[in-house]
Amino acid sequence: MTDTKADTGFVHVFEQGSDPARKPLLLLHGTGGDERDLLGLGRTVAPGASLLSPRGKVLEGAAPRFFRRLAEGVFDEHDLRRRTDELADFVLEARERYGLPAPIALGFSNGANIAAAMLLQRPDVLAGAALLRAMVPFAEPPRADLKGKPVLVLSGALDPIVPASNAERLARQLGENGAAVDHRVLPAGHGLGQADLSLVHDWIERQ
Ligand code: MLT
Repeated sequence: MTDTKADTGFVHVFEQGSDPARKPLLLLHGTGGDERDLLGLGRTVAPGASLLSPRGKVLEGAAPRFFRRLAEGVFDEHDLRRRTDELADFVLEARERYGLPAPIALGFSNGANIAAAMLLQRPDVLAGAALLRAMVPFAEPPRADLKGKPVLVLSGALDPIVPASNAERLARQLGENGAAVDHRVLPAGHGLGQADLSLVHDWIERQ
């Protein structure tokens, strides 16, 4: 079943999976993407999983995002905190509506950044997260109980948007809060490639 709705606060797509043993995926697109962007990626890395894919509500020009930024890589943290709660509440509502267990977030770039924020601010909402080209979301991160929560961080050694030290700091922050972090640095830029797909697929198989 594919269900496109706007009435839970976020325009989103819900695809009912064929394999109830699989955890659902929460797909979070990058800047300028929409709710359809990561559906193919989700189907590839987690065949048979239910997919919940909202569209970010903030517009930068015509480009949807999940929260405001002041410049590339410089976040409006007040807006980020508010948008993180809003997205977390949407996930809780969608779980009830579609009868889902807690999802694993699969986020790219801006979507990965709000997934990282959700792990730190609303840790109970997600069963885990695959963060593709993510950055540290908060200058002063809240303490969170992420005990044993699986998190995959895939960063690009040549990423012009996310400095290597920033991705390392993110992985460290999540680990210090108890998450089971697997951080890989790929010989890649900000864009995704086949190596990302294989690593996410194999990591999801182990969840
Ligand atoms: C952000 O704003 O979340 C990051 O700069 C990544 C992006 O460009 O979306």
